[in-house]
Amino acid sequence: MLEQAADIDRLIDEAERIGVVGSPSSTSELALDVLASAADKKLVGEFGLFRFRQDGKNHYALGQITEVKLRNVWHEDPTMRSLIRQRGRVDAVSERQDTHQGEMTVSAVFARDGSNYRPSILGTVPATGTPICLVDDRVLDALLAPYRNQLFYLGRVYGSTPKLPLWFKHFGHGPDGAGEAYHLGIFGKTGSGKSVLAKMILLAYARYPQMAMLVLDPQGEFAKDLRGEPTGEFRLPMNDVLRRLGKPTKVLSVRDLVLDRWELFAQILYESPFFEQLSVPKGENRELACQTLADRLRRAKVHLRDLHTRDAFDKAWQLLGEEQIQKVFYRSESSRARFQSMYEEADPDQFYNAYWRPVTWLFREDRKDAQKVDSLLYQLLVPKEKEGTRPLMVIDLSEEQARKASGDVSSLPLFGGNADVQDQPTMLWNETIQALVVKRLLEGIRSAAEAAYKESRSLNTVV
Ligand SMILES: Nc1ncnc2c1ncn2[C@@H]1O[C@H](COP(=O)(O)OP(=O)(O)OP(=O)(O)O)[C@@H](O)[C@H]1O
Ligand SMILES: [Mg+2]
Repeated sequence: MLEQAADIDRLIDEAERIGVVGSPSSTSELALDVLASAADKKLVGEFGLFRFRQDGKNHYALGQITEVKLRNVWHEDPTMRSLIRQRGRVDAVSERQDTHQGEMTVSAVFARDGSNYRPSILGTVPATGTPICLVDDRVLDALLAPYRNQLFYLGRVYGSTPKLPLWFKHFGHGPDGAGEAYHLGIFGKTGSGKSVLAKMILLAYARYPQMAMLVLDPQGEFAKDLRGEPTGEFRLPMNDVLRRLGKPTKVLSVRDLVLDRWELFAQILYESPFFEQLSVPKGENRELACQTLADRLRRAKVHLRDLHTRDAFDKAWQLLGEEQIQKVFYRSESSRARFQSMYEEADPDQFYNAYWRPVTWLFREDRKDAQKVDSLLYQLLVPKEKEGTRPLMVIDLSEEQARKASGDVSSLPLFGGNADVQDQPTMLWNETIQALVVKRLLEGIRSAAEAAYKESRSLNTVV
């Protein structure tokens, strides 16, 4: 370790000097007087490093150069300006009298403590003339050696060569924990690399066995990666890395989910063509009709998981024929009369097969390998007994998977009679239903988080 400490001073002495601390400087932003030898270098975005004394100890400050300004006071002089206007330049002044001043934002400070480096702050401004040098990988490696196991590299410093060291700590406590959750956002235009970056960050967190990870995957692109069908040019070997990290992974699709809330049933029925076909357009009336139907079925002790049966449908159909119920969603007699005539003309067999089953399929519990949202979240959030490991779970919510699971609903042959044909699963899926399912998952997480918070536990989960 002592060797390492010496190393850093040697590396700094050997590193390329680009400038010195100038004036005015503050603890948040330093002025950098650029040396003539470095004036024609690309400096913006580069990492600079300087050594200074604070509280009798050697300190090392790392920062990024954010701006370079050129100044030549002679060129600003009115007489000179008119000369320059005529001649283009004044040899004694142009270029020669140029000064370049950069701005540097300090991002990390380390104090040398015996043979070790510990994080510190810039508590004073170093003297003008303090040399600033360019950082390369060797300097970073030496300085960050004690943290080697915690560092993660997503890429290089923007437009430059050193690898940018980053910390991705899990959200729990302990030496590798941040002690609180961090929210991250990745923004950028289409094709700028957001998804790839998100996957890399995911891998950074996947190093922690105790961290639970849930990916809600609307396009199915994370699921593809984990199934070993990477997309895009940049082939990130997600699967290999996760396997090597020993992170258990699980990819689920919508067909593996069983929905478990009456209000979801009402909302999905609303989105479905069921009431469209009875000439109840989207709006308040249809909303009331769906809520009432769900409510009455529940009161009639029909279970959500049995909604797909012909019996349950028959019950629902009967309820819709009752004037007392029609009055809830159609107040005026003329509207009710119109509805009643549509209802009487409709073929219940067709309604059951084409419109009722695709909606209620999502609530069936007897589907192979399918599980309820709550039990799925339990698997995600509750650690495996001994090892304390928690998985990375991807829920593929793409339309492609939904269609694969059920065949295209619109092209399904209509079949009457046998209501429980298991190998003819039909399900309804669209963006709104996708959003409802995401909402259900997030509500589950939120209530788990609330419960954990009450017990002063951290969920230590990245979503
Ligand atoms: N660091 C990288 N190096 C090389 N190629 C990359 C890198 N990051 C992304 N790519 C490639 O660039 C393309 C777009 O990346 P990506 O899909 O991550 O972008 P995006 O911002 O998520 O796009 P969208 O807005 O369409 O979702 C892909 O082909 C990807 O493989
Ligand atoms: Mg993307």
